[in-house]
Amino acid sequence: MTSQVSDAAKAGDKQRIVIFDTTMRDGEQAPGASMSLDEKLELAKILEEMGVDVIEAGFPIASNGDFDAVRRIAETVTESTICGLARAAPGDIERCAEAIRPAKRGRIHTFISTSPVHMKYKLQMEPDAVLEQVTRSVSLARNLCGDVEWSAEDATRTERDFLRRCVEAAIKAGATTINIPDTVGYSFPSEYGEVFRDLIENVPGADAVIFSAHCHNDLGLAVANSLAAVQGGARQIECAINGIGERAGNAALEEVVMALRVRGDRLAYDTGVDSRLITKASRYVSAITGFPVQFNKAIVGKNAFAHESGIHQDGMLKNAETYEIMRPEDVGQGATNLVMGKHSGRHAFREKLKGLGYELGQNALNDAFVRFKELADKKKDVYDDDIVALVDDALARA
Ligand code: KIV
Ligand code: ZN
Repeated sequence: MTSQVSDAAKAGDKQRIVIFDTTMRDGEQAPGASMSLDEKLELAKILEEMGVDVIEAGFPIASNGDFDAVRRIAETVTESTICGLARAAPGDIERCAEAIRPAKRGRIHTFISTSPVHMKYKLQMEPDAVLEQVTRSVSLARNLCGDVEWSAEDATRTERDFLRRCVEAAIKAGATTINIPDTVGYSFPSEYGEVFRDLIENVPGADAVIFSAHCHNDLGLAVANSLAAVQGGARQIECAINGIGERAGNAALEEVVMALRVRGDRLAYDTGVDSRLITKASRYVSAITGFPVQFNKAIVGKNAFAHESGIHQDGMLKNAETYEIMRPEDVGQGATNLVMGKHSGRHAFREKLKGLGYELGQNALNDAFVRFKELADKKKDVYDDDIVALVDDALARA
């Protein structure tokens, strides 16, 4: 097993952000989101086809089912690095190594909490013992796999000097990626970016590893925080399709990828993701988890490229850049949708009629438009069939 992802991001390809998908690990930890082995395998193939760099396929010690899923994905997927999660315990790390063994490129992701509240109540360990555990766990993982990611769980509520010492210990023990999770979605973008700047500047050996952002969405800031991390020096973003994950979820992969692409003028970075497959992945994840995608969800929502108001529709008919900052086909969303409703204008109505095969004279058009507005005031959704019926009626009476 080699670590091509780390090599690619370090070896001169400075503009490239590594996309680490955790839909099948952190995403699956969302209550009710569990996926079968076949569903996970299919999703892994979609992620591989999309060009996702690292797929966190599960938590092998958690159950035999999770172990089997990670192993099957490791046997099948060849283009992405396959990663498994492990706590800082020998049993977890060895089970994880076993699950990813067949992978062409495999990664062990081991973590331990570093914040005072987690160390005191969850781990019931003193900071020095945690520090020793960092060294022991990363060393063991590194003996079993050349690509090791270490995470400081609850990093953003960790005392800074202790975080620096833990990161230094993980690097010395052989970690190749250092992940700084905002586990409880507590950070503001300016704070989160600053943590990366500080660690990269002040921890010995930091220039030899990749720093990674892992953000939860408890305050709705997961994507903003991930982008701030990149500005602070992170070169890997951990995210999930549709933003699923613990509680309010993780940073949404589709938003991260498109923010980096659309705003390449401001953030001079990009990913290797083929964004045209984003909607396919989103619909698949929604179907297998049963989690609906909200209509106004950025990038993949049903309304993300839909326009109902007359002013917007008129603008869109003149030039799509008036109200769209990316093209729907670039994210696999089909075409822009000019929805006919009570806010629609005459311009869009005439275009809709043209699309339905009607070229009306001015009087007939005016008459049909008045009737359309009356109908739209009464009916929430005006379908093509409704418009055909009212135009046919108007023509019959003319
Ligand atoms: O949110 C978190 O801290 C995690 C770690 C296990 C990386 O998911
Ligand atoms: Zn997480």
